[in-house]
Amino acid sequence: MVGDRKDDLGIRLERLERILEVSRELTSTVALEPLLEKIVSMAAELTGSEGGSILLLDTRTGELRFCAASGDQSRRLAPIPVPIEGSIAGAVLASGEPLIVCDAQADPRHYGEVGQRIGMEVRSLLAAPLQIKERCIGVLEVVNKGEGRGFSQEDVETLMALAAQAAVAIENARLVEALRRAYERLGELDRLKSDFIAIASHELRTPLSLILLYAAVLREELGDRAGTQLDAVLRAAMSLRHIIDTMLNLSYLETGQMEVVPTRFDMRAEVRGACSDYEALAETNGLTLTADLPDVAVPIQADREKVRVVLDNLISNAVRFTPSGGRVTVGVCGRGDEVEVSVADTGVGIPPQELERIFDRFYQVEDHMIRRHGGMGLGLSIVKGLVELHGGRVWAESVPGQGSRFVVVLPAT
Ligand SMILES: Nc1ncnc2c1ncn2[C@@H]1O[C@H](COP(=O)(O)OP(=O)(O)OP(=O)(O)O)[C@@H](O)[C@H]1O
Ligand SMILES: [Mg+2]
Repeated sequence: MVGDRKDDLGIRLERLERILEVSRELTSTVALEPLLEKIVSMAAELTGSEGGSILLLDTRTGELRFCAASGDQSRRLAPIPVPIEGSIAGAVLASGEPLIVCDAQADPRHYGEVGQRIGMEVRSLLAAPLQIKERCIGVLEVVNKGEGRGFSQEDVETLMALAAQAAVAIENARLVEALRRAYERLGELDRLKSDFIAIASHELRTPLSLILLYAAVLREELGDRAGTQLDAVLRAAMSLRHIIDTMLNLSYLETGQMEVVPTRFDMRAEVRGACSDYEALAETNGLTLTADLPDVAVPIQADREKVRVVLDNLISNAVRFTPSGGRVTVGVCGRGDEVEVSVADTGVGIPPQELERIFDRFYQVEDHMIRRHGGMGLGLSIVKGLVELHGGRVWAESVPGQGSRFVVVLPAT
């Protein structure tokens, strides 16, 4: 008697160990098929059955389909649909409860078609539902318990444990697949958007050049007769050109077509130039814009035009996001083999959680629908792209309500 109990315990322990083995595999593998085959074979082995299989609900057809089977039956079973009404697996799926059938042939729910098609006589059967949360997604079943014995309560427990693991594995695989598809779709949308920007900016450029050219010619010829109107046309066309150039820059950066043409220059000169371009706007906005420059030259080897685009964007942001009465200060300093440029303002500032995101394409702190500042949210992503193209880095520091400071560090040579 005591010996029997020991044996029983031994068997139970072994079963548990095998089930744990599946658990470990579940966390270390992403390949679903071999794992399900293993679960099915283990189910058959641990319950002393002739074979086993997993059927999954096909939500489109409302039928059950074999997705794994022991031995080499998988390929033969895969094409056979099993109806929910009129099959034991279907009854288990519907009830969500395990089921033991001692004499399958005498059971009216038994679906004989499967046995006939693979040439196997199903005598006894044990089936357990595959459940994810409250939802039943399929059934794990084993057939023909050996030596004419019936399935025991222990077999039911074993099968339930294995069914739970199969369900997790299937759900994981489905989630991974859904994620992969979503990611692919996102990539597709991103490509579409990039193509659209590339084409649109190219196509807009030529007619806009014509508008700018003829408006300038007319302004010249008509003198003051339509001066105000033509100046307005010219200003509008120039700001359109700025938008189109921004889109083109983005598109070149994204497609890797942006080339760096380095020359040697004094960074102080470029900062002075950029600051003087924004002086008038700063004055209109009631701001003090200063360049805080060292007495000695700050030589750098870089693409001068692109450095100017970086400065323009940072200064224009600082001027736009600083209320009247504030200060914008642009500083430069050489540090060994690097050159640091900073643009500091006393403006609205940026919340800490946004400090990195503002460098993402199209990202703006203010909601599109309510924002007062305009712009496309592309400037900083272009700044980042251009700085990184030079092997440099850029970041933002800020105290909301008090101001922001953007720092660009570029290699000096
Ligand atoms: N100096 C600054 N102070 C406060 N917020 C800023 C500052 N610079 C940038 N931001 C925030 O970062 C966002 C993104 O800036 P970015 O330059 O990329 O786009 P934008 O200025 O809105 O549009 P664009 O530059 O394309 O005309 C801005 O909309 C703003 O919310
Ligand atoms: Mg900007």
